[in-house]
Amino acid sequence: MNLPETRARTEADQTVAVTMTVNGSEVAMSLPARVTLSDALRDHLGLTGTHVGCEHGICGMCTVLVDGDAARACLLFAVQLDGAEITTVEGLGRQDDLHPLQEAFGKHHGLQCGFCTPGFLMSSYDLLTHEPEVRREDLPAELSGVLCRCTGYRNIIDAVDEVAEAHRDGLPGPGNCGKHALVGRTPAGVSGSGAAAEVAADEAASGHPDEITLPSGEPTIGIEVTSQLSSSPEQVARVFRDVRLLARCLPGAELTEELGDDWYAGRARIALGPVRLSFHGLAQVLEQSDERIRMNAQGKDTGGGGAQARIEMVAAAREDGGTSLQADADVFLTGRIAGFGRSLAGDVSRRMFEDFARAVDRAAAGEEPDASARPPGALSLLWSTLADRTRQRVRRVREARRGRRPRGRHGA
Ligand code: FES
Ligand code: FES
Repeated sequence: MNLPETRARTEADQTVAVTMTVNGSEVAMSLPARVTLSDALRDHLGLTGTHVGCEHGICGMCTVLVDGDAARACLLFAVQLDGAEITTVEGLGRQDDLHPLQEAFGKHHGLQCGFCTPGFLMSSYDLLTHEPEVRREDLPAELSGVLCRCTGYRNIIDAVDEVAEAHRDGLPGPGNCGKHALVGRTPAGVSGSGAAAEVAADEAASGHPDEITLPSGEPTIGIEVTSQLSSSPEQVARVFRDVRLLARCLPGAELTEELGDDWYAGRARIALGPVRLSFHGLAQVLEQSDERIRMNAQGKDTGGGGAQARIEMVAAAREDGGTSLQADADVFLTGRIAGFGRSLAGDVSRRMFEDFARAVDRAAAGEEPDASARPPGALSLLWSTLADRTRQRVRRVREARRGRRPRGRHGA
């Protein structure tokens, strides 16, 4: 008798590991099953060239190539694509060596506001590679899967037609695929076509630098947080000895590669309200024992910021059998993230360390850190930070009022 096949069911929030090749680079991600390919590209890999319009498969803004064919990235779950090869608009050409389609869009003023441009470029690429003989009169229908809000189809069609005429014998392939194509924006302070993940990918690909050199001046943020854990020092030591487990305790962080010699590559995400930061970087563990871990780390945000940090955590036994965990960090910020201001960035960082300490406590007690809870609900971090400040302010005002109250109220 044939028994019915048992199918494993994956919950929407369950984290699934997926490996895919994006613009020629292999990337490994751990994502909740509900994350779409467009969100994975934009939020997890920093490839914001893929635009998102309707998220219903109608507008075509999110078009990318999946195994060589055009596909709506908003209609695919990233975890469906294990082993797939994805090409996004960032992979099409380089700033200093554009793809013919990109050149033609510029030349014929097909860029207009630019919102639909990535979708049109990837759709046109798909069209001209699959149908190199396509005629001009068929272009409106062939490209109707992408909607332009600027209604400037004439210029777009002129551009695609010119490229079709020039490349009947075969369209040049994407010109920016390889480990240099993982990020679309160049952060401040990085010249040429470099970008955050490029740098990280370069560093990861070439091993690691000799050391992380921290700026010599005053850090942007100095953090000192002491948390009281109910776990015993022996239990906490187990977490301290396991860098992978330790990384999973840090909200929004993911260790992506062990580079040897106590070097690690990873990424971390945080969202401050509408601003999403996605850091790729390296960490070097300088000292690791049962009660102390010391490391330097550096990362670059795909949107143009940088962070370097000196971090030390010390676990000390308490009389009641618990552990006191002290975290000290000097953080140096550059780029747009530095614009948040020391005070707010400091509050948010401190709160992250507190969340980290709670996760260490749970991990020390044998609980697996909750991967689905990451990245941190940084909006809630922000809210709770602001709420704390408001509470402090209200307390100060009340105290000031009490101080002003006539002293003789009860007869004094
Ligand atoms: S965002 Fe995917 S089709 Fe509109
Ligand atoms: S150029 Fe503006 S939406 Fe198409």
